[in-house]
Amino acid sequence: MKRLFSGIQPSGTIHLGNYLGAIKRWVTIQEKYDSIFSVVDLHALTVYQDPKKFRNQIIDTAKILLASGIDPEKSIIFVQSEIAEHLELYWILNSITKVAELELMTQYKDKTQNGKSSTAGLLNYPVLMASDILLYDAQIVPVGEDQRQHLELTRELARRFNGLYGKTFKEPEELIEKVGSKIMGLDNPTKKMSKSASSEYNYIALTDEPEKIKDKIKKAVTDSETLIKYDPLKKPGISNLLTILALSLGKDVKEIENKYFGENYGRLKIDCADAVVQLLSKFQENYKKISDKKVESVLKKGAASAGKIALQKIEEVYQKVGLR
Ligand code: TYM
Repeated sequence: MKRLFSGIQPSGTIHLGNYLGAIKRWVTIQEKYDSIFSVVDLHALTVYQDPKKFRNQIIDTAKILLASGIDPEKSIIFVQSEIAEHLELYWILNSITKVAELELMTQYKDKTQNGKSSTAGLLNYPVLMASDILLYDAQIVPVGEDQRQHLELTRELARRFNGLYGKTFKEPEELIEKVGSKIMGLDNPTKKMSKSASSEYNYIALTDEPEKIKDKIKKAVTDSETLIKYDPLKKPGISNLLTILALSLGKDVKEIENKYFGENYGRLKIDCADAVVQLLSKFQENYKKISDKKVESVLKKGAASAGKIALQKIEEVYQKVGLR
């Protein structure tokens, strides 16, 4: 069985974009692969996290994965910082990564726009991500569109290392779905829905109450026309709502687009909100029932399983580079 790896940062609010673009898919796909999911807390540290809240955010993110249906009997769920080998491999890979390659990364460029100074952590972020994936010999990495470039770099680093030291790493493939891998912000549909958005009207949090979800979708930015049509470039707001509605119902966007042809924007918004409320209701019910103690015990078991794989791999890497 092929190995699958993916991760989510415990920073800010986990939102509908994370759910539709990643988590919901992980739940289905875990049946097909030997799956490992990580709460990547070290990645989150590239932005300041309040130490008093951080551990809770980590537990909460793992709870979200469990409530969504990631099954700890089938998949490994663990916290990145509990497996020190991620950092060990990170150093090795840093040593074969060019600074110029990292400076080309879109996410890095966005964060350092207008001459804003950056930390070394933010620059090296994709190398840590490559370590997460390569440490487990993952072949399949399901992610949203924003991670595509990081996967390209991961493959490049795997090839480079293999070229220098002999075949050690598998080249992983990203799994990015055509629809839903870039859910846009409700208040600005030209930019992706984001955990770090300044307004809560940008996103739907997975734990938002039904009334809040309805209010946010009602206020979603659209356009001044009246035509419901799927055209992400010309009609980003309407296309985003059609995408969210289709995915929430498990239907094709084309089918939804046809169904709403000639309808008004108000109808689309009401139906979209209802579908999201319905989609999240089971999740929210589960979420309330899972105790922190249960999460801690799942994570402990997950770290033990992940740790075994990681230890073996880092030993192999250390031997290859001549450290052992
Ligand atoms: P993160 O925590 O930002 O997001 C988790 C997952 O959600 C996807 N995503 C979206 N999908 C659709 N629409 C959106 N608006 C949207 N926003 C986020 C992301 O693409 C991601 O799949 N660097 C990663 C975490 C990571 C990782 C890894 C992933 C660290 N190591 C190894 C895979 C493999 C990140 O910041 O995801």
